[in-house]
Amino acid sequence: MMRQDWDIYKDRDVTPKEMFLNRRQIMAGGLGAACVTALPRGARAEALTPNSFEEITSYNNFYEFGWDKSDPKKYAAALTTTPWSVEIDGLVERPGTYALEDLLKMVTVSERIYRFRCVEAWSMVIPWSGFQLSDLLESVGVQSGARYVGFTSVLRPKEMPGQSGYSGIDWPYQEGLRLDEAMNPLTLMATGLYGEDLPKQNGAPIRLVVPWKYGFKSAKSIVKISLLKDQPLNTWQALQPKEYGFYANVNPQVDHPRWSQATERVIGAGLFGGRKETLMFNGYGEQVASLYKGMDLRKFY
Ligand code: MTE
Repeated sequence: MMRQDWDIYKDRDVTPKEMFLNRRQIMAGGLGAACVTALPRGARAEALTPNSFEEITSYNNFYEFGWDKSDPKKYAAALTTTPWSVEIDGLVERPGTYALEDLLKMVTVSERIYRFRCVEAWSMVIPWSGFQLSDLLESVGVQSGARYVGFTSVLRPKEMPGQSGYSGIDWPYQEGLRLDEAMNPLTLMATGLYGEDLPKQNGAPIRLVVPWKYGFKSAKSIVKISLLKDQPLNTWQALQPKEYGFYANVNPQVDHPRWSQATERVIGAGLFGGRKETLMFNGYGEQVASLYKGMDLRKFY
């Protein structure tokens, strides 16, 4: 596979890759041969060591299962994820409801280690498996009038306790990207982590991952992808528009109205060692800053 400019392994410490591959060798039933791609150049000085499987799968936001970070792991087993299909609709040449296994035949799955920064100012490093959303969009054919992509998570109140009681959220969970953001090579549809199928608490069987944006953009358990002319309303913006916007680019210079975004708590780094400075676009500026040229990022937060 051709090297991309965000493939850090050409110029940085390879420890995480070796670690990751060693773990893969131990695990049976992984996704098979895949290339490992990760952070951009310039990340060299930082040891990019993935969080443990345990950390990534037991400290979650998935409000369909409750508000506590431990709720998703506790309750997500009730969600049925097979069979699964994804509807692709709107301004698209080949709309339809695609069985997940058919959809996966249209794309190339690879592995990528990405930083993950939540708007609540905590962060992890996660080794995902998945495919570029651009791969899928190219194969279904985007019509010329499409300017945005909408994502809809699953609606199953019987299997997801947070969807039946009062939560203030208008389910299903919705997210959106501008089409050029969706087509960026970093934008991933994740189907696994640590070479295993995605655990339910992390958004099985398929979720969005947009590593330069706050984690809430990364909608979980997706059942619909819509090609749209107009900018869609995303769940957190609908709930609290003064605190959460459409863009949600990681930006240490633009604080949340209730807390600073300048630093982040590194999950797994312990009580005293665990804060570091947040990077503009979460460290992916080289790949994505041009998407926002001339935009006032204080206004479009
Ligand atoms: N997707 C759905 N459907 N429901 C959610 O509550 N939470 C978001 C995002 N995607 C959420 C969601 C938030 S706030 C974050 S930080 C990430 O998922 C958390 O992903 P993780 O649990 O895999 O770390």
